Formats: sequence, C-alpha cells, structure tokens
Amino acid sequence: MRLAILGCGTVGSEVVRLLHEQSADLAARIGAPLEIAGIAVRRLGRDRGDLPVDPELFTTDAVGLIKRDDVDVVVEVVGGIEPARSWLVDALRAGKSVVTANKALLAEDGAALHDAAADGGADLYYEASVAGAIPLLRPLRESLHGDRINRVTGIVNGTTNFILSAMDATGAGFAEALEEATELGYAEADPTADVEGFDAAAKAAILASLAFHTRVGAADVHREGITEVTAADMASAKAMGCTIKLLCLAARGVDAAGRGSVSVRVHPAMIPRSHPLASVGDAFNAVFVEAEAAGPLMFYGRGAGGAATASAVLGDIVAVGRNRLAGVRAPSESAYADLVVRPMGEALTRYHVSLDVADKPGVLAAVAGVFARHDVSIATVRQAPAGAEPAGRGVDAVLVIVTHVAPDAALAATVEELRGLDAVRSIASVLRVEGGA
Ligand code: NDP
Ligand code: HSE
Repeated sequence: MRLAILGCGTVGSEVVRLLHEQSADLAARIGAPLEIAGIAVRRLGRDRGDLPVDPELFTTDAVGLIKRDDVDVVVEVVGGIEPARSWLVDALRAGKSVVTANKALLAEDGAALHDAAADGGADLYYEASVAGAIPLLRPLRESLHGDRINRVTGIVNGTTNFILSAMDATGAGFAEALEEATELGYAEADPTADVEGFDAAAKAAILASLAFHTRVGAADVHREGITEVTAADMASAKAMGCTIKLLCLAARGVDAAGRGSVSVRVHPAMIPRSHPLASVGDAFNAVFVEAEAAGPLMFYGRGAGGAATASAVLGDIVAVGRNRLAGVRAPSESAYADLVVRPMGEALTRYHVSLDVADKPGVLAAVAGVFARHDVSIATVRQAPAGAEPAGRGVDAVLVIVTHVAPDAALAATVEELRGLDAVRSIASVLRVEGGA
C-alpha cells in the first residue's frame, strides 16, 4: 500500500518516523507492506533533522502527488481549509482513501469529505482530529453504535487546560498563565484558536456529529473562550469546592417545538472537584461520555504533540490497509438522525453570579426579585464583605448567587437586568456551573 503524505511538520514528521521504525510490525499487522510514495511540503529546503527518509521523496506538488497512479492512500497532516479540502475531495472521488488530522476542515465542511468518500467508494478516517492520541472517535463510530449516547462532556484543548490548571494551582491571572504556557511551548505564538475556543469548538462539532448521528458544523457550536476568566473567578470557584475548565458539552434533548435536538457548546465552566474531569491537569485531554446502556465512560490521554497524534494517524493507516486487503470499506457516515441543533438560549445550565452590591436593607430582596421575574430559581446565596471593609455599615459587600438549572436565555436576561439595578455596583463575574456542583 503506497502512501502520499501531505505535510511533514509536528505531526507529519512523527508519522514518517513511526512508519520507518515500525515498518515490519505494521506490514505484519496489515498483511502487506507500507511504502511512502512521496511527501508534500511547503518548503523543500527546510531542515528536517535526522528524519529517516529519502530526501528525493519530498515535493511541493501536492496535487501531482495525489494524482499519481501508484498512490493508494492520502495522509493529510497539513491543516487549514484550503487547499486541504480540494486535495482530499479529489482524492476521495478518485477512490483513494484518506486519513486526516484536520479538525478545522472536518468541522467546517465535513459533509464535502463524507460525500466525496461515498462517491468514490473510499474510506475517510480522522481519529487524530479530536483529542490527539486518545482512541475516542472509533469507540463513538463503532463500539457504541449499539447504544444511545445522551451526553458528551470533554476537555479537548490542551493549551487552555494547561492555562486553567496553572491558574488553579498558583492563583495566577490569565495573562500570566498564558505567558508560562507560551514559554513552555504549550501555546502557539498566536494562541487565538486555542484561547478563544475555536479549536475546541471544531472538536465539539466532530464529537457531536458522531455521537448523535447528525451533521453538526463549527457554525452550530456556541463558543466562548477563556480570555475573560480571572484569578478572582478561580478563587470563587475554589471557595465553592470547584475548579474552572474549558468544557465542550454536547447533549441530546428536545427543542422548544418538541423535536429531538442536540445542543453543542464550548465555554469555561465551574465543575466540582469531585467530577472526573476536574482532576485532568496540565495539557491532558479527557472526554466523559454518558450512554444509556453503557453508563458513564471516561477517555483520557494526550490530546496533542507530534508522536501522540501520529499514533492515532498510524492506527487509521492500519485500518485502511486492512480494509483494502479484505475488500471492505470503513463504516460510512451516519447522519440519519438529522436532529435539530438547539440555539444556545435553550441550553439548560446553571449560573454562578458574583455581584458587588450596596450593603443595605432591601438589596437582597431586589436582587432576588430579578431572578424571580425571569423564572430563575436561586440555589444558594452567600454574602461576604468586600475587601478589608467591614460589612453591615452601609459599605459594599459581595453577593455570590448560584442558580438552579434554567434556560441560558433566562439566565442571561437575569444578568442583563441585574446590570441596571441601582443596588448592584458591578457584576464581578458570571460563570456557568456544570457537572452537579
Ligand atoms: P505544522 O504546521 O507543524 O506542519 C504543517 C506541514 O504542512 C508542514 O510540513 C508544511 O510544510 C506543510 N504545508 C503547509 N502548507 C502546505 C502546502 N500548501 N503544500 C504542501 N505542504 C504544506 O502542523 P501540525 O503538524 O502541528 O498539524 C498538522 C495537522 O494536524 C493540523 O490539521 C492540526 O490541526 C492537526 N493536529 C495537530 C496536533 C498537534 O499536536 N500539532 C494535534 C492534533 C491534530 P513545511 O514543513 O515545508 O513548512
Ligand atoms: N492546539 C491544540 C490543543 C492541539 O492545545 O489541544 C491540537 O489539537
């Protein structure tokens, strides 16, 4: 089986290394040897260290490489939407199976790839696109196909998990923790895709599509990043026995019109320290799947890094090889359920609201009245004196309110009305609460 490798950066170079180091084992597992037909890159002259590969295999002509008659399988580890989409659609339509790690493309236009795979009778595998090394998509796509998944909750971005874990451990603010993540090589020079939640939202779309047999794209995912999470938010979470994580949450439900639906969101949230995801530290990923018959399942491991991600790519290459030899195809896309994507306003969640208020009679009643008007039930209220000033003498105090579950639109409208209340000097923080805190 001859491979066209597109990209030889962080992931691609490790794919090439593993193909070389494990060639005998891989051939034995597949039943036929693997051979690299060519490697497409952007810069031919780039120093690639001691990569164990014939330099003659490198080319800048990806299109020409894919079209070669002696190429059976295309492995795409370049990233981005174009030209990757055109390359892969053409390869799949020509009957060449594809292995890709490209979550951005799958979330933006997975339909184009799945349709092309169906047209060309080719396999499309993308295990590395979500949670790097963790075997997660195959369990969702195959092992759990006899069950009904109700909810997927995950930490799927290592960079932001490193930052939030550092904020939790040291009390640092976001900027300081990001600086540390950059120095240690966890955050890229431009961290926007990670800290603004775009990377996690793409992964959430892929997970939701597989879990709920429905096409979900990046545009269907409600996305908030972690740039607004403060040291005070983290301290507040700690005081409640919680920590803050950037969560991807995908859940099955019923929309306002009574139709079967999914809601998919990515945002920072407080979770109790007793929740399995709370102990996921450093740059690790973990995904918690709740299925009807199987119950709760937890997947944990490295979500990024060249070798870790290459492990998932190699697993897909072996699967493609076995399918080719057996004359069978991978399970095709399953989107039959075609559930409605519910808007964020209908998502059910809980809020933790921290208010700087005047400490005088009637304030608590006024604040509670706003919650009541929006049909939001308060679960707990805690009042603490602000700063060093003693409470109870007309000076400011901090009110910390945690709600019961309510539609996000009602919670957001409550916060908006609180902003205009005379007694509320400022809203110090608003965070969603998940995981039964
Ligand atoms: P890198 O930026 O390290 O590597 C990209 C590679 O693509 C480079 O070899 C580059 O060539 C090549 N390339 C870029 N543009 C072109 C082009 N127009 N034609 C041919 N080759 C091109 O990316 P990563 O290895 O980090 O990521 C690859 C994919 O894997 C992405 O989709 C990413 O989202 C995904 N992924 C990455 C993870 C990680 O930990 N890094 C984890 C999980 C998924 P050159 O070497 O000449 O510059
Ligand atoms: N930037 C991603 C992360 C790695 O921090 O998890 C690739 O998915």
